[in-house]
Amino acid sequence: MKFFIDTANLAQIKEAQDLGVLDGVTTNPSLMAKEGIKGQDNILKHYVDICNIVTGDVSAEVIATDFEGMIKEGEALAELHEQIVVKIPMIKDGVKAIKYFSEKGIKTNCTLVFSAGQALLAAKAGATYVSPFVGRLDDVSTDGMQLIEDIRIIYDNYGFETEILAASVRHPMHIIQCAKLGADVATCPLSAITALLNHPLTDKGLAQFLADAKK
Ligand code: G3P
Repeated sequence: MKFFIDTANLAQIKEAQDLGVLDGVTTNPSLMAKEGIKGQDNILKHYVDICNIVTGDVSAEVIATDFEGMIKEGEALAELHEQIVVKIPMIKDGVKAIKYFSEKGIKTNCTLVFSAGQALLAAKAGATYVSPFVGRLDDVSTDGMQLIEDIRIIYDNYGFETEILAASVRHPMHIIQCAKLGADVATCPLSAITALLNHPLTDKGLAQFLADAKK
């Protein structure tokens, strides 16, 4: 399973990249705003800065919600850097835009996916990635992981090549469950990735080894 980091924070992206396990980055307008990135030129430059830190795919989201607007914005984003993946919301014009980009060989990430039917549409339109938001489903007392399982079954039934990019992943158990269910990618905050390191028996065992090494 690939690990993407879900942030626009350059320091955190560098830290994850330095760990040697990072496969890509996802951003969204909320994450860009959190970093105080404002204005079109600054936003575009920030995407390029991210691409220059990592070697994998970097999702950059369109703001337009109409077909023509999404195409214009998406083409400008795709021209920025070869690692850019155009992130498009799961709405009617979004599905049409994904089909358009798919035929032009431009990578897409279909975002804000909350049902298996939406994931099926995204795959049929040729999305490179589909982003089911597991944490936000959990927030409304719905099992986000069940959606990952359902999409995996549907995609495997028909050999869809769209990669399941589990998003809104909040903690290490989400990552482990995604891996068990066969998600292709999990995108999560740095804290969820580094939390995978932790085990008290590792700390205890290491302390013992170091103490014994002094004997
Ligand atoms: O990848 C989507 C993600 O940024 C949403 O996460 O925690 O805001 O639901 P969250």
